[in-house]
Parts: sequence; structure tokens; C-alpha cells
Amino acid sequence: MLFGHAEDSGALARGGEGAGVVASEEAVAEAGDNAVAELAQGAGDEAQDFGEGPPGAADELKGCEGGVGAVIEAFVGDEGVGDEDDAVGEGGEVEAGENLLAQGALERGVAEGGGLVVLEEEADEAVAEGADAVVEEQGIALDGGALGGGHGFIVCLWHAFYTGWMPRILTRSRQLQLRAERFLPGGVDSPVRAFRAVGGDPPFVTHAEGAYLWDADGNKYLDFFGSWGPMILGHAFPPVVEAIRQAAGRGASFGASTAAEADLAELVTRCFPSVEKLRFVSSGTEACMSAVRLARGFTGRNFVVKFEGCYHGHSDAMLVKAGSGVATLGIPGSAGVPAETAMHTLALPFNDLDAVRAVFEARPEEIACVIVEPVVGNAGTIPPAEGYLQGLRAITREFGALLILDEVMTGFRVSLGGAQRVYGVEPDLTTLGKIVGGGLPCGAFGGRAEVMEFLAPLGPVYQAGTLSGNPLAMAAGITTLRELIAREGEIYAGLERTAAAIAEGVAGLAREAGIGMTTNRVGSMFTWFFTEQAVRDFASAATSDTVAFGRFHRAMLEAGVWLPPSQYEAAFISTAHGDAEVAMVLEAARGALRA
Ligand SMILES: Cc1ncc(COP(=O)(O)O)c(C=O)c1O
Repeated sequence: MLFGHAEDSGALARGGEGAGVVASEEAVAEAGDNAVAELAQGAGDEAQDFGEGPPGAADELKGCEGGVGAVIEAFVGDEGVGDEDDAVGEGGEVEAGENLLAQGALERGVAEGGGLVVLEEEADEAVAEGADAVVEEQGIALDGGALGGGHGFIVCLWHAFYTGWMPRILTRSRQLQLRAERFLPGGVDSPVRAFRAVGGDPPFVTHAEGAYLWDADGNKYLDFFGSWGPMILGHAFPPVVEAIRQAAGRGASFGASTAAEADLAELVTRCFPSVEKLRFVSSGTEACMSAVRLARGFTGRNFVVKFEGCYHGHSDAMLVKAGSGVATLGIPGSAGVPAETAMHTLALPFNDLDAVRAVFEARPEEIACVIVEPVVGNAGTIPPAEGYLQGLRAITREFGALLILDEVMTGFRVSLGGAQRVYGVEPDLTTLGKIVGGGLPCGAFGGRAEVMEFLAPLGPVYQAGTLSGNPLAMAAGITTLRELIAREGEIYAGLERTAAAIAEGVAGLAREAGIGMTTNRVGSMFTWFFTEQAVRDFASAATSDTVAFGRFHRAMLEAGVWLPPSQYEAAFISTAHGDAEVAMVLEAARGALRA
């Protein structure tokens, strides 16, 4: 329950933040629950029904925004005051008169709390159009920016003094989340964005540049997920922005071939010698789904071998013991996948060649392909054991199955030629995504010409896409790959150096703090697992203390460092992360590991 924030006395002061209220420490201590409860009551019970608060919602750090949220929720939740839709969803303004009830509630709370002083009743500027609850006359400023410059700032300083942290205001992000929840399930278009695994409020991003993101409340974050991998050159890399701009000026999509598709394809084949021919699609999911279909069509077999904790997108056949959000949410598979479909997917432990040999011996002529993340990223970072990928290559060859390396994450990331170059293994098919589209929706699958020519229009395996090879995505991809190719040595050496300093630096701080942590890193992707066990497969990754990770995540976010919001995801850096960013993350981690 979001009002969980109100459970501690600090929440009262926090309620005051947005309300132009300054509380003395004693007043806060005395006021306690009553005032905030009164505030909620005065504004209507429905305000308490905004759904479950995230784990750790009562956490001291997050709670600092809670009071402000409480005020907003008091507004938006009360039918008598104007319902949620009016206040939040349709960008309706909270009329001055409507404030009175909540304001009255606040004042009752103040009176009961005793010692709180309402200093000012002027309205700070309201947030912006659209989703904002706008308060024009009654002194309840909902805008984080306004708070930063007003009394909220004083309370924040007060909080910072007593806790050692300067709390972040996430008022506007909260409003945007509430609004989004009206239209989008969970308020998101991809589950992990909802922060369910770590708790706290997901900031809503307004823009990004280099290694940093900014949210709707004006907070700045050092980014460690890089749009989940694509942003290897940093956000809004100027040549990529310019290429997209120029391509957009020529038209966003034609549904007909352009020269840029072969241009990008040629660059991909230069980086990945195992890829003789490829096809562009619009996502990594499509790339993997299509590669598996092609493997089935080419071999005439039905079974697919995958590995626990590996994620190959959300197509039906791949949602069996998958990693990423599926692992994050603890879902064994997905509802909606027919058993008849899932039965053809054999999920085995990663890094266990004996298990692979055993299924091939049990079904020597039925397995079409093995698909694997050569470095797992979707259970957190897990490198392959020595000889593991070569073992997969040998077994698949022996039994006439195809080996698909899913390099959606590792492609152009762990080296220009992906993990297949780092580990010296040649797959039949490779899937790509993320970096290949320079941050725009794009994926690709490719490999031996003989296999790829099984695709329509040359062969019997059908695969298609309205926006496949989209000109904007091609432009962004070409510019990104050209940059990576032109400065390969410098870029990958720099990423290695910076990622090592960060990953090992934080690992050292954890050791000093007596926290059991296992750090896995391959190039510029890495994970801090909150476990002492070596992490070599999903079972060992799952020994991590995810509650401790959630605490760490929230404290890091509070300190301005945005890690991927799940223990089972890899962190990424970009070429824009340098020495200053190393220093910043170590400083943040020093505090967060003690939180
Ligand atoms: C290894 C891997 N394969 C496939 C996918 C699916 O890609 P997309 O999210 O673009 O559909 C992902 C996404 O994170 C991934 O990491």
C-alpha cells in the first residue's frame, strides 16, 4: 500500500514537503501516524487503494517522497474531490476548490500533529500539461522542481542531515506512473520496467545524453543499463542522432527495399564472419523466433534445446525456463503457451555438457537446434565454462542439429565480433539485436548461406515484417557499426578498462563491508550477485539474496546511479562512462552497501 509510507513519523514531514510545510524534528516525531492517516482519511479511503506498495516502500529513503505522493494520492483518489481520472489521467486540473478538502485534511493533520507550521499557501508552479495534478492556489506544489527550490528543499536538507542522503523527489514520475497504469498493464510496455523486483518508484525518463539519464522530476542518473544494451556509444551519440534525423527527412518507412539494408548487412558480415547472409527484423524476439523456425524448417525436426535462465525473447517456444523478466518475476513459463508448443522445448542447465549429450542421445534425430546465449546476460552475467561452447558445437554437428548463438546482447558488446569471436566458436546461425540497430527497433538473424536460403522467397520457410529493415534503424545501425569498426581497438580496450574498474571496485567495497558477493564480468557487461557461491548457471544465480539486491538497487538509485532493476539482468556501460563515472559509482556503492 502506498500509504505504507505514512507508517513512520518521518512520513509526516515528508507529507509536508510538497505542501509548503516545514516540520521541526520534534514535531515530526510527535505527529506520527495520526496526521498522515487523517490526511488520507480526509481525502477519501479510495486513496489507500492505489494498489500494493512495492517491497520496501516504507524504506526510509524512498519514504521521503512518500508524503508528497500521499498528498497527490489524497487528491486523485477521492471521488468527492474529483476522481483519479480527472486529476491524473486526462490531464485534468485539480481545481482550487477541490484542494480545499485535501488542504483541510492536511491542516487537520497538522493540528493533530502539533508543531507543524504551514508557512506558505502560495502555489508553486504546477507541473506540466497532461497528467499533472495542478494546484494553482492552495500551496500544494506537486512539482519536484518546485520542491527543489522551495520548502521541500529545506525538508530534504533536514532529511539529508539526519540520514546522510539527499532524497530524490519522484513526484512527477509517480504521477506519470499512475496515469500510465490507466492505459498500460502495470503502466509499462515491458515488465521489468515496473521495478517490481526491487521496489521503489520507476523514474520516468525525459531525455538522456552520454552516460546519463534525466527523469521527469529533473533528477539525473548515471545509467548502467543503456537501454538494456544498445547504447554502447552512450545516449544521443551525435553522429547517430544526425543519421536518424537525415533518414527521417527522407521518409520513415517505405515497405520497399533500400540500399541501406545491404549496407548494414555488409557491415554485420564483416564483424561476424560466420554470417554469410542475414535478414533484418524489428526485435531480438523476432530474430530468435525466426532463427528457430528456420532451423526447424532446414532440419525437418521439431525439438529445440535451450538453457535455464537464457532469454531468447518472448515467442511461445522460447518462454520455457527463460531468464530476464520471466526469472525476475519468478514465473516458470508463461500462461498462454500451449503445452503442445512448450513440449518441444527442452530446457537444460547452462554449462553442463553432459546434460546436452544425454538429450541428444535420447532423441538423436529429433532435435533441430541448440540455442544459447554464449555469455548469459538474462540470469545476470554468466560466462561459459572453458570448452563449453566448443562442446555444444561438437555435439550439434555430431547429431546433425544447428547451433544458434543468440548474440542479441553480446553482439558488438563483448567484442566487435561478439562472443563467438571471444570464445572461438562458429555457429550455424547467429541472432542479433540491440546494438545492431543503434538504439532503434531492429534485430537480425543470419548465418550459413545454405541455411539462410531456406527462407522465403528462395525457400519454404516463411518470415516477413512490415517494418523490417526500417530506414531509420538502418541509418542508426550503420552509423553505430562504422564508429565501432573505425575505433575498435580504442573502444573495446576502454570499455574493458572502465568496466573492470567498476565491477571490481564495487566487489572490493562489498568485501570490505563483509557482504557476500560474486562478481561476473565479460567485457562491458557484468553483474554483482548477492551470493557467495560461484555463479555458473541459473540455479547458482538463484542463490542470490534478491532482497539485499533490491536494497542495494534502491540505495544506488537514491544516490543517482541507475542499475538494471533486477538481480537477473546484466549491467552495461558505454564509451561515455569514464573516470568520473567510475569515481561516482564507487562513491555511491560505498554508501549503498551499508544501507
Ligand atoms: C539474449 C537476448 N535474446 C533476445 C532478446 C529479445 O530481444 P527484444 O527485447 O529486442 O525482443 C533479448 C532481450 O533482452 C536478449 O537479451
